[in-house]
Amino acid sequence: MKPDNIPHCNQPIGIFDSGVGGLTVYRAVRDRLPGENVVYLGDTARIPYGTRSPVTVRRYAMEDAAFLMSRHIKLLVVACNTVSSVAMELLRDSLPIPVIGMIEPGARRAAQVSRSGKIGVIGTEATVGSGAYKSAIGAIRPDAYVVERSCPLFVPLTEEGWAAHKVAEMVAAEYLAPFRAIGIDTLVLGCTHYPILRPLIQKIVGPDVYLVDSGASAAAEVERLLRDRELTADTVEPPETQFCVTDFGDRFRRVAEIFLGQPMDHPETVDLWGKQ
Ligand code: DGL
Repeated sequence: MKPDNIPHCNQPIGIFDSGVGGLTVYRAVRDRLPGENVVYLGDTARIPYGTRSPVTVRRYAMEDAAFLMSRHIKLLVVACNTVSSVAMELLRDSLPIPVIGMIEPGARRAAQVSRSGKIGVIGTEATVGSGAYKSAIGAIRPDAYVVERSCPLFVPLTEEGWAAHKVAEMVAAEYLAPFRAIGIDTLVLGCTHYPILRPLIQKIVGPDVYLVDSGASAAAEVERLLRDRELTADTVEPPETQFCVTDFGDRFRRVAEIFLGQPMDHPETVDLWGKQ
């Protein structure tokens, strides 16, 4: 998948996730870069990725990336922590364009803001199982004490629209209790869904714990990279976003609205194997 095409500034940014969660990253990119065209792919037919094996996640990631490459993107944002934790090397080795994931920006921010070096990370089972955040933070700050915990119920609770529900509060109190006991001063929200739960998570861990939103950190990196490589869009045309999904139904419509903050009109339903 490595043709010799040099990216051009007015090509779109490609963003993909296993589904709707990456819309939190999309919003962060949109806020920073209002002039860019974006193609967003949510692999809604195969979500969740976070409970699957690294081999399967890598295969899905390559298929998602190949689809976005067919839309002539200039930069790929892997807006899924699970994919970012197991497939970055493969994607970077395979693609002729820059690839930005969630782990490095989130890890850098956590290493930078933590005073005590006691850092918590929450994510899917696959992300936590990979130990990717722990190694990335440790590489920057060898003195850090990093504790990771998977919080699998956070994804369905968020998608149910229960971010402020008492059930979510009970679940969060259970998952986050070890971090309170350790006395972390920084917690990485290592899953695209967790920014939706931010007020609840902050309430449970306490106001003194700094929450790192990996998507927001990644968006800052996207802006920097485009500037450094002179790839920032310079057209006067109004920017467009094309939302693509692999499965579209009522549930998606409802959940996308939670993540996007507004209804998503007419996403394009695509077949990743070219059978549109
Ligand atoms: N987008 C995934 C992540 O950030 C969460 C949802 C899933 O398991 O696919 O890890």
